[in-house]
Amino acid sequence: MAEQLAIKGGRRAVPEGLIKAWPPIDDIDREMVLASLNSDEHSFGPNCRAFQDEWARWNGNKYVVTTNSGTAALHMSLVACDCGAGDEVIVPAYSWSSSATCVMQHNAIPVFVDIDFDTMNIDVDKIEAAITPKTKAIIVVHLHGLPVDMDKVMDIATRRDLKVIEDACQAHGATYKGRKAGTIGHCGAFSFNQNKCLCSGDGGMFVTDDPEMRDKARSLWSFGENKMPSEDRDYHVYGMGWMYRNNDMTAAFGRAQLTKLDGYLQLQRDNAALLSERLAGTPNLMLPQAPAGYGHNWYNYTMRFDMEALGHVDDAAVFRDRIAAAMWAEGVQTSVWQSFALPRMTVFQAKNAYGHGCPWNCPHAHPVDYSPQQYPMALKHCGWHSGMTMPLRAPNGAEAIEATANGIRKVMKNLDQV
Ligand SMILES: Cc1ncc(COP(=O)(O)O)c(C=O)c1O
Repeated sequence: MAEQLAIKGGRRAVPEGLIKAWPPIDDIDREMVLASLNSDEHSFGPNCRAFQDEWARWNGNKYVVTTNSGTAALHMSLVACDCGAGDEVIVPAYSWSSSATCVMQHNAIPVFVDIDFDTMNIDVDKIEAAITPKTKAIIVVHLHGLPVDMDKVMDIATRRDLKVIEDACQAHGATYKGRKAGTIGHCGAFSFNQNKCLCSGDGGMFVTDDPEMRDKARSLWSFGENKMPSEDRDYHVYGMGWMYRNNDMTAAFGRAQLTKLDGYLQLQRDNAALLSERLAGTPNLMLPQAPAGYGHNWYNYTMRFDMEALGHVDDAAVFRDRIAAAMWAEGVQTSVWQSFALPRMTVFQAKNAYGHGCPWNCPHAHPVDYSPQQYPMALKHCGWHSGMTMPLRAPNGAEAIEATANGIRKVMKNLDQV
């Protein structure tokens, strides 16, 4: 007999309260944050400096700058790569919005490249066709924690004299052929927001091995001044500047979480492996994969529903939403992360970021075309996927994963009820 789905009044598969919230907070967090609060340095303080040193060591970067968001670190990366008015920067057609809007922040123009459906990352075989004499850099996003094929990207960049920015905002500890995300391109950005594998509330880190790029990135980090706040400031603005600095209490939280990051990531990988094992063979369910040599960190476990086999190609997003709602009712914490391919977003379709059509109307810019049909794989992915960060995250383990797998299988077996 068919089981009744929770959405139809049946018993939910994942008991209420089983999935624990992220991030786990213990005495290390309390002590370090309280010590910062009780100190007399609350702006860019000793915890910020220590967080930089510890992140540089943990990730293997020579130079790092702690920021108040991953987006700030991305904007700094653009400047480190000398991208400015009218320059073109290649970005994937599917990512978080600021992987692309950071480009406009410095008056440069994003040029989108479709994704590879299997990896959900930028299709590296389509990058070269998007390069023009205006192209300055490529932003690769290690989406959901799966690294991009960096050998191919670095080969293109070397041959075409381009810079590579790694958007590693979701890729803490992810590896490509044994190398950590954020150590392969010319520079990169991490995010430490609420949802990330390292959460400090909000925050980010700019990373590079090049001292000149570090200096360029830092030039806009503190109002356009050229000194660290701890140095003898002359309060002179040398170029365009923002206020992207981190603060001491946030850095203290980040440092405390960093002491536990390796353990969190191991648990996340174990949870993902168990989930994939339990879901293997579920009809019409396409599971995320990590090709050999790619160390996924499983930031987001993104499933796709085979809309071709299900006969819902034309109304994929609507049917997907019904499946995801039914799973949610079972207690499966799955949701649709980005339902728009980036070029479909209004800011790109209207080509009007700063008003008066800027930066696309800048006299230094060449026309670019954002017709959505150029990105068929990104569009398809948008309608077919549903992702999960919980219960992959610590402190959740096998019990939460087994219940979640039961909920997913239950819905997939009873799609006539959604
Ligand atoms: C891929 C990607 N890039 C950039 C960002 C921006 O990070 P933040 O929210 O710290 O600005 C995020 C997260 O929101 C992200 O997931």
